[in-house]
Amino acid sequence: MHKRNSHNHVVWHESVLKKEDRQALHGHKSLMIWFTGLSGSGKSTVANALQLKLYQQGISSYLLDGDNLRHGINKDLSFSEKDRKENIRRTAEIGKLFVDAGIVVLAALISPYEEDRECARFLFNKGEFIEVYVACPIEECQKRDPKGLYKKAINGEIKGFTGIDDPYEEPKNPDIILKTNEFSVDKCTDKIIHYLFQQINLLQTGKE
Ligand code: ADX
Repeated sequence: MHKRNSHNHVVWHESVLKKEDRQALHGHKSLMIWFTGLSGSGKSTVANALQLKLYQQGISSYLLDGDNLRHGINKDLSFSEKDRKENIRRTAEIGKLFVDAGIVVLAALISPYEEDRECARFLFNKGEFIEVYVACPIEECQKRDPKGLYKKAINGEIKGFTGIDDPYEEPKNPDIILKTNEFSVDKCTDKIIHYLFQQINLLQTGKE
């Protein structure tokens, strides 16, 4: 039975190498670590610090940062509900390719809608999608305001800003919660590292 796409005239071509082969080459499992949270909650900061820790432990990772993707592959997208959905969909699909390539992928996007995050999770095998809720009270995010965007949103210069006049749906069942207003970046990344090594057995690939 050939796997076909929705137009029915494109047939999936099997790769001679499997994800498991590439994982074995890297010496670890591959998976998606999805950071969600308000702007200014610390997603990019924690994800970057985690990247460095993984690198130092010989783990191949790559960070897909919402802000950066919006400079390239997602630069045609706005912040409407429909475009945020598409933003999440594309990022998850790209992440899936990275996971297939044997890499630990980190995605840092506000991803405000539960349904969109669930669609992202649905693309991955069980255990290959870890949802990390970067939880930080909006008052603290506004105080940090690293890009001065909350100020603009409150002044009405930016419309539809998440947490101000656009919704953020808190994750109901995240795999990990990071309270970045209570714990240091170091503690937060350690929590994820611990999860990866204890719960996921990151270094155990399917080929051993
Ligand atoms: S998402 O909602 O589609 O997941 P994404 O993470 O890609 O958002 O981009 C969010 C970043 O875009 C914010 O950190 C902020 O710098 C910037 N931004 C600009 N306009 C908005 C807006 N209306 N709402 C939220 N973030 C915005």
